[in-house]
Amino acid sequence: MVELAGVAKRYAQGAVTALEDVDLQIMPGEIFGVIGESGAGKTTLLDILTASEAPSAGSVTVLGRSLAGLEGKALRDFRRRIGVVFQGVHLLSNRTVLDNVLLPLELGRSGRATAARRRAERDRAHEMLEFVGLAETSERFPAQLSGGQQQRVGIARALAGRPDLILCDEPTSSLDATTSDEVLRVLVDARDRLGTTVVVVTHDLEVVRAICDRVALFERGALRDVIAVRARGLDRSDSYLDRARKELGA
Ligand SMILES: Nc1ncnc2c1ncn2[C@@H]1O[C@H](COP(=O)(O)OP(=O)(O)O)[C@@H](O)[C@H]1O
Ligand SMILES: [Mg+2]
Repeated sequence: MVELAGVAKRYAQGAVTALEDVDLQIMPGEIFGVIGESGAGKTTLLDILTASEAPSAGSVTVLGRSLAGLEGKALRDFRRRIGVVFQGVHLLSNRTVLDNVLLPLELGRSGRATAARRRAERDRAHEMLEFVGLAETSERFPAQLSGGQQQRVGIARALAGRPDLILCDEPTSSLDATTSDEVLRVLVDARDRLGTTVVVVTHDLEVVRAICDRVALFERGALRDVIAVRARGLDRSDSYLDRARKELGA
């Protein structure tokens, strides 16, 4: 699904090494975590996987395709096959929730859309909003949704084009534990019900413990370790206050 061999990324005429000699394979159907402290190279790794940045050295294969020299139509076709969930969501505030989910489908059109095509796109966008549990919000605007709901709209948008792979940058970083779980549940559903391979970048170990099959540990641009995780799942029976009592030793 993803294969990196000897990948390095340097910025600022080589003054900054964001990634160094990374070898990594991600298998189809995995929920693969990427963790590391701020500046470890996590976002750079995602930028390389989406072909937004070219590596300074090494080779990258995603969905069976080498990303070297990818441009023009080939690059657009490749991008259509992956979904990206950005850090901090980035929904368009002047578009309804449904129209935000529609956006990648509209951008992915080649030529003029027929009425039937438009209908199919709207049906698909509705279906994805239902998938993330937000069908009833379709005519609202992003500002009328909570942070966790906005993040789920971002995931619906990323899934709209039926990607085989979605890449998520810190999808729960600004959310509380319960809301985080709702977002993570959608990622697990995407893997279980749609067969999507999921890469999730996070600094939150709880995310890894809850949903990841394996996790890569990055430190200052180097891949230090890849660990198989036995995900504990999302069925937290404890309430927030119960967890607080336990963790605080009451
Ligand atoms: N466009 C850029 N130009 C220069 N340096 C960059 C750029 N993007 C990232 N870096 C540097 O590369 C390193 C890794 O950054 P990043 O991939 O954003 O880390 P993380 O997402 O793990 O916090 C950091 O030292 C950062 O300052
Ligand atoms: Mg980052």
